[in-house]
Amino acid sequence: MSEPPRQPAASASAVSQAIEGARSTQDAHPYGLLIVDDEEAILESLELTLAEDYRVFTATNGPDGLEILEREEINLVIVDQVMPEMSGVEFLEEVIARKPETIRMMLTGYADVHSIVRAINDGRIYRYIQKPWEPDELRVDVKRALETYHLTAENAQLGAALAAANERLRAENLYLRREVQRQYAFDQILGESPSMQRVFDVMEKVAETDATVLIGGETGTGKDLVARAIHYAGPRKERRFVAQNCGALPDTLLESELFGHKRGAFTGAHADKKGLFELADGGTIFLDEIGETEPGMQVRLLRVLQDGEIRPLGSSETRKVDVRILAATNRDLRAAVESQRFREDLYYRLRVVEIELPPLRERREDVPALAHHFLDVANDKMNRQIQGFTNAAMDLLTACPWSGNVRELENEIERAVALAGDVEMLGPDMFSEHLRKEVAAEVGRSIELPDEHDLNRAVDVLKRKMIETAVAETGSKTRAAERLGIPRQSLQKMMKRLEMD
Ligand SMILES: Nc1ncnc2c1ncn2[C@@H]1O[C@H](COP(=O)(O)OP(=O)(O)OP(=O)(O)O)[C@@H](O)[C@H]1O
Ligand SMILES: [Mg+2]
Repeated sequence: MSEPPRQPAASASAVSQAIEGARSTQDAHPYGLLIVDDEEAILESLELTLAEDYRVFTATNGPDGLEILEREEINLVIVDQVMPEMSGVEFLEEVIARKPETIRMMLTGYADVHSIVRAINDGRIYRYIQKPWEPDELRVDVKRALETYHLTAENAQLGAALAAANERLRAENLYLRREVQRQYAFDQILGESPSMQRVFDVMEKVAETDATVLIGGETGTGKDLVARAIHYAGPRKERRFVAQNCGALPDTLLESELFGHKRGAFTGAHADKKGLFELADGGTIFLDEIGETEPGMQVRLLRVLQDGEIRPLGSSETRKVDVRILAATNRDLRAAVESQRFREDLYYRLRVVEIELPPLRERREDVPALAHHFLDVANDKMNRQIQGFTNAAMDLLTACPWSGNVRELENEIERAVALAGDVEMLGPDMFSEHLRKEVAAEVGRSIELPDEHDLNRAVDVLKRKMIETAVAETGSKTRAAERLGIPRQSLQKMMKRLEMD
């Protein structure tokens, strides 16, 4: 192994030393001092005391001093009190007017206590220096004054930075709120089917009011989405929307979440805590899976609905809140009332307006638009350029019973996009095994044997059933004929013979 060449290393360090040296002489004099006195001897001696540590400028009269003040970066001025042209106090008034952040010190030959005390009290001077001065003391005084200056400047800077950050946060908040409002706007909920159009009608009417709404529907049908859209379309949109899943917590914890608690209300309650009802004051609370609540909780919810009153856990006082309540359930609440698992009075209070979201399999005509929407979202998210679905793929999607409803469709498409890679169209083979099984089972169910023993009549029953389904699901005779694998004219003839119009 050969020794590393020493020459370049040594010269590099010499260069860096030279640079550091240059910087340190500059850095040693970050502060500029201005001394104004009509006696040259005093100027000289002050300069001698201070020039080693500061950039010192001198002037023998006020006007010259002001000129330097304007031209140079001056952090501290020392001025003689008694001067022929402009007195020390007059000079300092000018300094205050021009560069108010400059630290001001006054030299005084005799103790004119009154004017100096007044000047100090008025904040015009930082302190006075009595002639003759002790050089070391003066150096300490100046150093302290500049430290104060530094801190004040830093404070001001931090204050300004904080104000700017606050302003940014405020703007960001506003932006985010707009974003959320946009994200949950009605037009983000897709559905051309008559059943969804009816849902939109009710939503629109109810959004403007404070009415309690009970949203029903199987899992994944969009209950959450509808609740948020109602809130963000209504007069409470600038206030909070808070959601709580009532099925997710044991009773006591749920009570404390919703109503808050006093310190010591239960083990672990170390401090008072506000509940969601108070946080949502003026806004909306969304009680998801309301069907899962225990009887005790049902009583408490009834009280809020009746009197707008809540009582934090462990507190003896009740509080009024102004909160709009939206609730959702995927259970049959009426059945729960009948079997006495849900209070009837609460049920009626909740379903002032009822919105029932239809399962996706009962509005298959919405599938293509939803599928394309989720494809767009997934394309964006994963930076893909998939154009659409092959006919066979779309047939598969429309035939699926979607037990997980829109959520399942969304996941299925996201998964397909992730796995498909760079294809132009999504084909049926790109969907999950689970989906294909679901479709196969559905098709199996739909060709149950007809209740007919005569073969011809039985075949007619089956034909009628298949044509009905194909027309309903594809929405047009042309597409239905395509799916059934027969020409359109044949379909029309067949429908006529089967008296299907
Ligand atoms: N009509 C629709 N248009 C667009 N997206 C929808 C629609 N319905 C549902 N979604 C989407 O489907 C997913 C499931 O919806 P959501 O969470 O609102 O269902 P949910 O009824 O609350 O389900 P769960 O009962 O499981 O809580 C969400 O990503 C939602 O954005
Ligand atoms: Mg939900």
